Amino acid sequence: MVDALRREYSSAELIEQEAPADALELFASWYEAACRSSEIIEPNTMVLATVDGSGQPAARAVLLKSFDHNGFVFVTNYQSRKGKEISDNNRVAAAFVWNALERQVRIEGRAVQLTAEQSDQIFAARPRGAQLAAHASRQSTELQNRAQLDQLYLEAVEKFGKEDVSRPSAWGGYAIRPERIEFWQGRANRMSDRLLYSRTVDGNWQRSRLAP
Ligand SMILES: Cc1cc2nc3c(=O)[nH]c(=O)nc-3n(C[C@H](O)[C@H](O)[C@H](O)COP(=O)(O)O)c2cc1C
Repeated sequence: MVDALRREYSSAELIEQEAPADALELFASWYEAACRSSEIIEPNTMVLATVDGSGQPAARAVLLKSFDHNGFVFVTNYQSRKGKEISDNNRVAAAFVWNALERQVRIEGRAVQLTAEQSDQIFAARPRGAQLAAHASRQSTELQNRAQLDQLYLEAVEKFGKEDVSRPSAWGGYAIRPERIEFWQGRANRMSDRLLYSRTVDGNWQRSRLAP
């Protein structure tokens, strides 16, 4: 029964006096804690939401590659469903859920393509198999069957032989430039802490507390 999963949250709290004024600083300390936790597999997994032209949202997991004041970076195929949706409307949302720490971080902002040089660097650091897959897979397009996908991969292997694999022009990174970042810390009796950091026009963060 799903309802039997209900449990009390009690391990930590999030209070204004102890939280940094800079949202990125708080994110960095929570991210490091998630990386240290042996109970969290791939703490860099975030669920990314985009919206299509009719207003229909879509959500999927992507991996965070890096983050700093320029944004939260992930890589993907620019021609994928998410890539097309971002090119029409670059407003996105992302959420990290770190259950073992009773924490959630929600990010809202605009996704901006990295420069070709930045994407080249990330691509060059990937394992060769993943580089070949980026050539083989036209992400989010319909396949006839699995054999077709395997064939496309073999074609990429043969095409590059022993040569370095170049970055496909449709593969690259986005930085989500955050406008709002909300930190959620679970507490007993569902009286959880929620601190919302909103970016002001002068680039600082304004903080407010939300009801759980
Ligand atoms: C844990 C996890 C991590 C993933 N990381 C990525 C990623 O970094 N980039 C990516 O394009 N897809 C990633 N995927 C696959 C996406 O969830 C999704 O299937 C794919 O990007 C196609 O999405 P779209 O059709 O909405 O564009 C990941 C899936 C999982 C489960």
